[in-house]
Amino acid sequence: MTAREAADPVHDWVPLLVPDMPSPQTLMPWLERMHAARHYSNFGPLVKELEERFSLGFGVPLEQLTTVANATLGLELVLQALDLPKGSHVLVPAFTFVATATAVVRAGHVPVLADVDPDCWMLTPSIARSACHATRIDAVIPVATFGMPHDMFAWQQFEQETGLPVVIDAAAAYGSQSLQGAQCTLVFSLHATKSLPAGEGGLVISTRPGLAARVRQLSNFGINLDPDAGMPVGALADIGSNAKMSEYHAAIALASLQVWEDHARQRRALQAEFMAELDESSGHRLVWQAQGAGGALMAPSLLCARLHNQAARQALEHRCQQGRIMVRRWYQPLLQQMPALASVVKVLDTCHADELAATLLGMPFFLGMTQAQRKLIQLAVSTSKKDLA
Ligand SMILES: Cc1ncc(COP(=O)(O)O)c(C=O)c1O
Repeated sequence: MTAREAADPVHDWVPLLVPDMPSPQTLMPWLERMHAARHYSNFGPLVKELEERFSLGFGVPLEQLTTVANATLGLELVLQALDLPKGSHVLVPAFTFVATATAVVRAGHVPVLADVDPDCWMLTPSIARSACHATRIDAVIPVATFGMPHDMFAWQQFEQETGLPVVIDAAAAYGSQSLQGAQCTLVFSLHATKSLPAGEGGLVISTRPGLAARVRQLSNFGINLDPDAGMPVGALADIGSNAKMSEYHAAIALASLQVWEDHARQRRALQAEFMAELDESSGHRLVWQAQGAGGALMAPSLLCARLHNQAARQALEHRCQQGRIMVRRWYQPLLQQMPALASVVKVLDTCHADELAATLLGMPFFLGMTQAQRKLIQLAVSTSKKDLA
């Protein structure tokens, strides 16, 4: 903290997140290419180039992926393309962003809410197996919580054993979650707050034969564009939606890709340093998300601290409020407590998720955090130390 800040506690609020969007200068060459081509949407040259880069990066053929307007529609269209009977029971973690469940409901199915692992905060194959013993499950959507990757071979084995389709909601996991050589389906978000921002955007990757192509068609109203499909090009083959990624959004994603490696490295370094500082300030009373079975988080975009109990969380929230520091109870309340979902979900035992929801607090985390901002947060943590025990 600077001497001025120490003398004057009235400073600007420390923001929770600051999106890491490309500058107008970085964006301009891509926008100029778009404008020269006079192609602004409908699978134009920039979307094509972005998809080619994803194909290389993920090591999958082009026909196994498609860009979409956002991850929520990506999930919805993947569920539609799976052709599950209406009213299917889709297992999702109780601790996730609302879109995981709203996509299930909007696709005509019933979200069944499962618990999460108390350490990595994710729905694991072993939790899914228990859920299948407790009730009927027709598909599973595990979430790569806060970007933490899943072990895709473990989920492939689950799919083979049970015959149930698994779709990973990897919204926050671009750069961390890969196919790892397994057969699987992944849905990523390219929202402004994610590690590869396009403003709004999504990416669906699936090794299921024909699934990505079906999602692509559904994202274009359901119109057939394949001359070999046995129906005229332009005929409506399916009841789809409009979930195409525009060339404007592809331009932002391509510009973001230029700096992705460097920014991911900076995010990892900031996270490691800042967690060590907060640990120290709290007297080692904070608990962090443990690495899951799928490997390390490569491009963190959030930071959540877990407190020992609800009172400790409240005390830290209070200190942060006094210190003009923005914090957020991410993914809370749990889905079953959300008014619009309460009556449409089925709930299994969610004891670990319940505990998480009572003790987790999202702290500010973004590239470009200043030393002064970090010091203010450390101060808030250290002044609430006695309450954190
Ligand atoms: C777990 C999860 N699923 C889905 C979404 C929705 O992504 P989008 O904003 O691209 O629709 C988010 C967004 O934060 C998310 O965190």
